[in-house]
Amino acid sequence: MVEPSKAEPFAGYDDSDLPSGTTYSRGKVRDIFDLDDELIISTSDRISAFDQILGVVPFKGEVLNRLSVFWLEHTNDILPNHHVATLSPRSIVATKCQVIPIEVVVRGYLTGSAWRDYQARRPVSGISLPEGMRFNERFPEPIITPSTKEADGMHDVPCSREDILASGVVDEELWTQVEGAALALFARGQRVVAERGLILVDTKYEFGIADDTLHLIDEIHTPDSSRFWYADTYDSLFAAGEKQRKLDKEYLRQWLMEQSYTGDGAPPEIPDEIFAEVSRRYQTAFETITGREFRTQSSGVEAEKRKLLSFLEERQDDGE
Ligand SMILES: Nc1ncnc2c1ncn2[C@@H]1O[C@H](COP(=O)(O)OP(=O)(O)OP(=O)(O)O)[C@@H](O)[C@H]1O
Ligand SMILES: [Mg+2]
Repeated sequence: MVEPSKAEPFAGYDDSDLPSGTTYSRGKVRDIFDLDDELIISTSDRISAFDQILGVVPFKGEVLNRLSVFWLEHTNDILPNHHVATLSPRSIVATKCQVIPIEVVVRGYLTGSAWRDYQARRPVSGISLPEGMRFNERFPEPIITPSTKEADGMHDVPCSREDILASGVVDEELWTQVEGAALALFARGQRVVAERGLILVDTKYEFGIADDTLHLIDEIHTPDSSRFWYADTYDSLFAAGEKQRKLDKEYLRQWLMEQSYTGDGAPPEIPDEIFAEVSRRYQTAFETITGREFRTQSSGVEAEKRKLLSFLEERQDDGE
């Protein structure tokens, strides 16, 4: 664990950092540079809650990027992924893929929005679940509850296998391959974190196509894309019908809700100590999942920027 105040948080790239004419795009968390057949994906320290960017969390980008790289290395026997090289602690060179515009959510337990749908007797992404299931109960087998990936500012919409095939965005053969990969990745994730005393409860994957081959893209099994519970207290809390102990990144969201903020209007001023606590929780997630102490590998924001810029320049020279 590194003291959060030791970091120099990085809100990401903007035009003033870059040679004019550099093409890049900004997601909520990542800055993406297009190198024709490859991308540089740089994970900033930006944090979003209620679909808005609310500030920067020390070490968040490095934690997320290094965790994803850890998982990509632990799953590349299941299917190819986009990782080509690690450029800096927060950035990778990735194969540019044609993104399949579906968030492939896999759930091992009845919780979150699936629990809310179930209680309201709504099918969960077109799947009818057995009667009489309880809060946080384990499914006999993990289920896939996809949503469409919507443009900025729009909420993703849950959809069923039938909706996906009917829409024609993916054909049946490819979708079947996606489902198989998602379930195999989830099983691997559950097995790896079980050794660390955790349960991988649910997660979201993204896939893309390059060279006519299905690739895993984006982030994998990070606190931003996944829910983790502590395994040792699962049974007793489940039996008591209580909330699970989680490895969470929801601290900021929770704090905002305590200030009566739920996403409407201007957010309240967020004290540095709140961001510091979020940082400690991200670092704890890294340490618990990987079993390694978190020590930063960054030599600072300026050094990272220089590295990325010189890589961009090299590529531009090659292209000329
Ligand atoms: N190898 C890849 N090829 C093409 N696009 C990719 C690849 N890896 C990731 N992406 C895309 O890059 C974006 C990652 O950026 P980021 O996570 O910041 O944004 P976001 O997905 O818009 O926001 P959020 O994750 O908060 O919903 C995603 O849109 C993802 O689909
Ligand atoms: Mg994303």
